[in-house]
Amino acid sequence: MTTRRLVLTRSAAVIGAASTGLLLPQIVRAQSDKLRVGFMLPYTGTFAQLGVAIENGFRMAINEQGGKIAGREIEFFKVDDESNPAKGIENATRLVQRDRVDVLIGTVHSGVQMGIHRVARESGVLNLIPNAGVHVATRQQCAPNVFRTSFSNSQPTLALGKPMVERGHKKAVWITWNYAAGDEAFEGFEKSYTEAGGQIIKKLGLPFPNVEFQALLTEIASLKPDAVACFFAGGGAAKFLRDYHAAGLSRNIQLYGSGFLTEGVLQAAGDAANGVLTTMHYSDSLDTPRNKQFRLEYAKTFKMQPDVYAVQGYDTGLLLLQGANAVRGDFGNKQALQAAMRGAEINSPRGKWKMSPSHNPIQDMYLRQVENRENKVIGIAAKAVADPGTGCRMA
Ligand code: PHB
Repeated sequence: MTTRRLVLTRSAAVIGAASTGLLLPQIVRAQSDKLRVGFMLPYTGTFAQLGVAIENGFRMAINEQGGKIAGREIEFFKVDDESNPAKGIENATRLVQRDRVDVLIGTVHSGVQMGIHRVARESGVLNLIPNAGVHVATRQQCAPNVFRTSFSNSQPTLALGKPMVERGHKKAVWITWNYAAGDEAFEGFEKSYTEAGGQIIKKLGLPFPNVEFQALLTEIASLKPDAVACFFAGGGAAKFLRDYHAAGLSRNIQLYGSGFLTEGVLQAAGDAANGVLTTMHYSDSLDTPRNKQFRLEYAKTFKMQPDVYAVQGYDTGLLLLQGANAVRGDFGNKQALQAAMRGAEINSPRGKWKMSPSHNPIQDMYLRQVENRENKVIGIAAKAVADPGTGCRMA
């Protein structure tokens, strides 16, 4: 807490020195020929592959429209945010003030998102969140220029408790990284699991992005729960799946998670992931023409299989295109641009979804199980899940 406050203060001083009056001046800019698109994503560290998938998905949506947005050519700017919250404000400020982006696309990590959020609110720059689920961004601190195309952190786990209890798993241990995403995923899990009649016998955690799971797995073995539920993602998720299996736990303690646990990691986790049950707003095996066409095109273009992050990046592109087309590429027309995005319906590979009033997707949650390196959909775990948007007042 102390470190974070110090960092915020120091960054604020830097921004303050570079501006007059307001912390960050609202940016008003003539429409130049090229649209300036900034990616602030993790390209190194445990979430590196998530950043790449998001960028790929976004580019694919734009390439489907001839590589332009509402007829305008694009200039891309990129910052590797390293999933480091301490550099969040500084990195976002670079894109907004130095690179003068028209839209900032980012990011993955909830802590880093808070830095982007502060800069977005103060500068008024359009921010599209392609992953980070931090609650306040679409609750108490919601903003007219901030839209999320992914999920709020408790959305997937709000669908998790019921299928666990239905499978007779009534005593669970929860394990996660101790930061906003893990804490808020727990909120959803606690609500859905206890309401379904389940009992959480222990909450375990470790600092992000630590992957020394051994002592915690030993503790789980001695607690003998019916099931383990968790939030992990990226490289850390692959390691957790392998370690859980190697410790012998997958033989008699069913592993559950929010679906990030098994996204983009199925090759790396190998057989260790087989049988893991998760809830998520996407599944590889969704049997729709839209999903099949998306998967085929993505695999052909990028020589890898898409995952939920690729879908979220793709939908971010679709959302931006809808907004931009409504104002014929004039990003200066903020009111109309934002209104078009608020009312957008996205024809996503995950299924059609709409924006909630606080700018978060209203979407179905699927129950999936890993089988032969694929997330196979078992059914819909919860229909049209909306984040409550508690405390959101659009300015
Ligand atoms: C987050 O920090 O909000 C986060 C990161 C990775 C995920 C999901 C959420 O897969």
